[in-house]
Amino acid sequence: MITTFEQHVSCDQARFPDATGEFTWLVSGITLATKMIESQVRRAGLTGLLGSFGAVNVQGEIQQKLDVYANEALIHCLSLRESIGIIASEENERVITLRHDSPNAKYAIVFDPLDGSSNIDVAVTIGTTFAIFRRPDARAADPLDWVLQPGRQQVAAGYVVYGSSTVLVYSAGRGVHAFTLDPQIGSYLLTHENLRIPEQGKYYSINESYCDRWPETYVSYLRRLKSGELGRRYSSRFIGSMVADFHRTLLRGGVFIYPPNTDYPEGRLRLLYEANPVAFLAEQAGGSSSDGTRSILDVQPTDIHQRTPLIVGGAIEMAEFERCVREG
Ligand code: AHG
Ligand code: MN
Ligand code: MN
Repeated sequence: MITTFEQHVSCDQARFPDATGEFTWLVSGITLATKMIESQVRRAGLTGLLGSFGAVNVQGEIQQKLDVYANEALIHCLSLRESIGIIASEENERVITLRHDSPNAKYAIVFDPLDGSSNIDVAVTIGTTFAIFRRPDARAADPLDWVLQPGRQQVAAGYVVYGSSTVLVYSAGRGVHAFTLDPQIGSYLLTHENLRIPEQGKYYSINESYCDRWPETYVSYLRRLKSGELGRRYSSRFIGSMVADFHRTLLRGGVFIYPPNTDYPEGRLRLLYEANPVAFLAEQAGGSSSDGTRSILDVQPTDIHQRTPLIVGGAIEMAEFERCVREG
């Protein structure tokens, strides 16, 4: 018996007496867009889709052609869903207001259309991350209020990783489930139900080249992971696509860290569409996250593109990080 992603969401929604099916329709916009992206990713070198687009995004980063394609695919597919009022994307400076004053618009969606842009041209794993919020109670006049909600308010979040296979990892707050794209039939099929992040892993994942620019807490944390004090000497893995590094961390355990550094005092990753979705998944899978002082999910955002330090992983690694923070 196979279970498609849409079937899973539909059954999950059926538990709610007033479910209308519109949430299932909404998420089918994500699966359609990510299948369009995946098909371009797989053929990128053959179709002239590699390289830079020639523009710079709001973050001051050079947009790759696939960043632009992925953004357009998601915006196109999702703007057809009447239940979505507001969209925020890494590639758009401002929120996109679709129909926030319509009574049918109950949700906002935020995404990083293509994570790991520096890996596109070298055929290394990249991904798409997303999070869905409910419309704030008061039919807010300001579209920004729809998306400036703490991560704990995410109704659902997930990512798609375009790797040696294409996997959609998703949680609507009732466990984490993974669906692998079957290219023969073009559907995401349930392959990992109720994923749990191992209590202890053997890898830490961090761009160590910045170590002389980190706060001392991170230097001593890394020293402890490597020293064997946690019962094993940790080894390192770093891909440079957060979504790929997180995916391995979720399945194999360990910790992914992007600390603040003197060049990026707030860290480099974006809270809304990068840190929040993986923090939500980690917690749903039995792990946790931090921005150095509190859970990522408790941070009240003030800007759609704000950056944050991110530490996310399994129970033992995160407890050790908290210890390093306490000890200063
Ligand atoms: P994006 O491609 O969406 O701009 O994100 C890239 C991010 C993230 O995926 C990765 O972990 C990080 O940038 C890598 O940054 P460094 O090169 O500074 O390590
Ligand atoms: Mn990214
Ligand atoms: Mn991106």
